[in-house]
Amino acid sequence: MKYVLDRFADEIRSAINTTGRVPPDLIELAEPKANVPADLAFPCFRAAKASNMAPAQLAQQLASAIKISRDSLIGGVEAAGPFLNFTVNRRQLAQNVLAEVGQQGQHFGGDDLGQGQKVVVEYSSPNIARRMHVGHIRSTIIGQSLNNILSFLGYETISDNHLGDYGKQFGTLLAAIEKFGRPEGEGESILAKLEEIYSRYNRLLGSINADDFDADAAGADDTARAWSLKLEQNDPTARELWQWMVQATLQANQRNYDRLAVRFDTQHGESFYADMLPSVLGQVEEAGLAEREAGGALVVKGLPDRNGKELPTFLVQRSDGATLYLTRDIATIIYREQTYHPAKIVYAVDQRQELHFRQVFALTKALGYARDIELVHVPFGTIFGPNGEALSTRKGNMVYLEALLDDAVARAKSIIEQKLSEGKTDLTPEQVAEIAEQVGVGAVIYNDLYQDPKRNITLDWERMLSFEGNSAPYLQYTHARCRSILREAGTLPATCDAQLLEAEQELAVLKQLARFPEAVRRAGGNYAPYVIADWLYTTAREFARFYRDLSVLKAATPELRAARLQLVAATAQALANGLALLGIGAPERM
Ligand code: ARG
Repeated sequence: MKYVLDRFADEIRSAINTTGRVPPDLIELAEPKANVPADLAFPCFRAAKASNMAPAQLAQQLASAIKISRDSLIGGVEAAGPFLNFTVNRRQLAQNVLAEVGQQGQHFGGDDLGQGQKVVVEYSSPNIARRMHVGHIRSTIIGQSLNNILSFLGYETISDNHLGDYGKQFGTLLAAIEKFGRPEGEGESILAKLEEIYSRYNRLLGSINADDFDADAAGADDTARAWSLKLEQNDPTARELWQWMVQATLQANQRNYDRLAVRFDTQHGESFYADMLPSVLGQVEEAGLAEREAGGALVVKGLPDRNGKELPTFLVQRSDGATLYLTRDIATIIYREQTYHPAKIVYAVDQRQELHFRQVFALTKALGYARDIELVHVPFGTIFGPNGEALSTRKGNMVYLEALLDDAVARAKSIIEQKLSEGKTDLTPEQVAEIAEQVGVGAVIYNDLYQDPKRNITLDWERMLSFEGNSAPYLQYTHARCRSILREAGTLPATCDAQLLEAEQELAVLKQLARFPEAVRRAGGNYAPYVIADWLYTTAREFARFYRDLSVLKAATPELRAARLQLVAATAQALANGLALLGIGAPERM
């Protein structure tokens, strides 16, 4: 898809090409430095070298050789030392941007660059019979945003929730249910009870890590082992109890997913791949990639990762015959390759699993699978508490998703009610509830997405819920403000003369709007939703400056008023599109 700044760049390339002084493959454009008054630059170094010239001399020659027509998107060209600097034609830019946003509406910023390609995006992936904690919260939010961005770029995405529903711990859980009874309740509370009876049962057995759920080889007793076996052999009672646990977990999770606008195409748990495991193990052994140890374990030694670095030794089968989390991940890739033939598989998973994915990817490729699939692990850091304290189950201060969202919404509600009592806004009680939900949930999402996912985040409520800083409420507020200006204006004039938008503040907003499509591409290319967050924040700030300095409803002429209103409408639309890619709602009023 070509947006106005893409056509601007194309025109520059063709103008340089027409001079005949630069070989086409050396025409590479660059963003000028922040303090340079230009919109795009051609650094002349390489081209000058090719024709034995000083870069500044070539820049001079090109500047005088390039002719610009009146209706070009190029406004001006100038040599500045070794650079050839281009500015955009303000009038053309204004007209084109407003037309693009107006015509494309909620599709503005989208692209077709991914067309014809599938991407599997895997995220959330919590464990059955457990509440979603901080690791899954980040995965859920980052993964959904990546899914939104990639599908906006034209990829056909398949979102999958790789539920942790396999392993010996389910034998223990069934034994615990048998002993203490099936817990009742709904939502996260039922999962909390399951966690509780699980640790109670383990404590009874004197297991050291009573809470340790993720271990494939939970230190179970005979009863638990018997349940585990029954489950494997499809015993009806065991299956029924297991199904019940899966359903209870899915139901609890779904409530959170709905609030977060999270959607999955499939929720295949690890157990979905159980039938494939013997074949995977057979292939690993046959390919000579693993050694059978004396005790019976199947071990992979000395396998290089994709950079040729030797990976630490790892297991694909235990001595008791059990498979591992890693083995199931390999089967999962094979299944996805055969089912979807995707171009990429993207995993939003905690950075502590970095080594795990290097091992999975290396072994899968060594087996000859996923040759044409780009396997991408998008790692993320930890969530810390409000005072920067570490969160853990053992310390008893773990943060769970439902409780986190409830907390955020309650806080948002009291801030909005405060504004209401100060007369700063007039909303009905239903509106307050609805907006508090969007603001609270939005604040949690944005806190996760506004910076590089590798960085840790803190639950600093004041910052997250501030209406002024780099926060969701500030962005939502800017959008709502645009909408309120438009409501006050009444009907929008159908057409306007965009060329009247000549003030520097107006131009700054217009340029920001024009940059949105590129921000979306970069966010998708780098698996980096924060690029969109950055774009949103800059846009909101530029809009604030425009609105502070220039009047919209009381503009000097009706024509100027109409043009500014169109700028406000386009800003509202683009902000809403950006927020939607992050999974954040854009209320009409706040
Ligand atoms: N269920 C796992 C956990 O809670 C996360 C799964 C991540 N995805 C994967 N394909 N390994 O740690």
